[in-house]
Amino acid sequence: MTLSLAQVRSPLQGSVSLPGDKSLAHRAALFAALAEGESEVGNYPDSGVTRAMRGALESLGVPSTIDGGVLRVKGNGMHPFPNSGATAYCGNSATTIRLLAGAVAATHSAAVLDGSEGLRKRPMNRIVEPLRQMGADVSSTDGCAPLRISPAPLECIGYELPVASAQVLSCLQIAALGAEGESRFTVDAPVRDHTSRMLRAMGAEVVDSWPDVFVESLNKPLSPLHGTLPGDISSAAFLFAAAAIVPGSRITVTGVGVNPTRTGILDVLSKMGAKVSLANEREEMGEPVADVTLAAEPLHCVEIAGDLVVRSIDEFPAIAAVAAFAEGRTVVREAEELRYKETDRIAAIVTQLRALGAEVEEFEDGFAVCGGTLKGGTACANGDHRLAMSMAVCGLCAPVSVEGAEILNESFPDFERVIMSLM
Ligand code: S3P
Repeated sequence: MTLSLAQVRSPLQGSVSLPGDKSLAHRAALFAALAEGESEVGNYPDSGVTRAMRGALESLGVPSTIDGGVLRVKGNGMHPFPNSGATAYCGNSATTIRLLAGAVAATHSAAVLDGSEGLRKRPMNRIVEPLRQMGADVSSTDGCAPLRISPAPLECIGYELPVASAQVLSCLQIAALGAEGESRFTVDAPVRDHTSRMLRAMGAEVVDSWPDVFVESLNKPLSPLHGTLPGDISSAAFLFAAAAIVPGSRITVTGVGVNPTRTGILDVLSKMGAKVSLANEREEMGEPVADVTLAAEPLHCVEIAGDLVVRSIDEFPAIAAVAAFAEGRTVVREAEELRYKETDRIAAIVTQLRALGAEVEEFEDGFAVCGGTLKGGTACANGDHRLAMSMAVCGLCAPVSVEGAEILNESFPDFERVIMSLM
């Protein structure tokens, strides 16, 4: 599918609410499978990546339903997988394969975890090595999927993560629930802490005091989940980017998750000059939620590095799109982890912005974009949902077509309709 958003002549305006956060949705489905009893979770997003987790769980014998946006899963405690030994296909979803690996190991189950061609290229040694140190019987295929896991007793561990990755930390936290004793994980940057919050809400003993996270083995079953997921700030990022680049725009996304480990995008857009305000701050399922308004103001370049990279890790395609319309040269450094996402995101951002005529520089650990140089043209999504949406957003201010845009169904199937509703 080729997507070309019409260039806008008037500001974006309005208020929208979005389907639940994908990171929370993955965890909710998986942790519900490990709980004892039925979980019910509202505002559950139905997209490619959440189907990947639900499909993989179903292959292992844990079906789920979504009805009226409510996910229902019956969990069977720490013996969750009646089809232990099955192959579970995790699609394009790295969160699915990495978190599920932790759950299969924790519950002394067996599984073959596989995925799409793209997923098979993503690094899995980052979970295989520490899981083995805990005693898990897990093997990869040259450091990648498919992963083969057989039942084995686990021991607690003290482990310093070599990469600041919430997926790795979460995999190990889940494994630690089924290990003897207390595990301690140290991570040198503030990665998203959804696993700690959700497991604690379900009754697990988890202490998350960054840089250390402590997890006790489970001595009682997890309680089922009941609640509503906050809207996905990573989807909202494309709407905020769109509003930031169209002069005079003012939009509100209601009920969006504003966990501080995820709000890097709001900080970056504020630093660039956009006006960001939060109202109606509250909590849903142990997560901070607010109505977030973004008002466009003249944009200028920023430098992004350090913790802000980690807190914005999924938002660099959107940030690159905004940088293309800001005054000056925006520079992103210390972001090498972007090379291990759905695509090599540094190379993909650079290539696609260049295809649209922008002046861009590539570094080993980041990129730089000269604002005001993007002319328009045809970009390619490269099999990356976030790249598709960010290049499409550039189309609001320049003539842009995005090829392969159907990949956006992986995360935000309603993207085009929602953005049109703000025009
Ligand atoms: C995620 C963590 C991040 C993020 C991914 C979702 C999660 O990956 O990029 O989209 O749900 O834990 P890393 O933890 O590997 O950086």
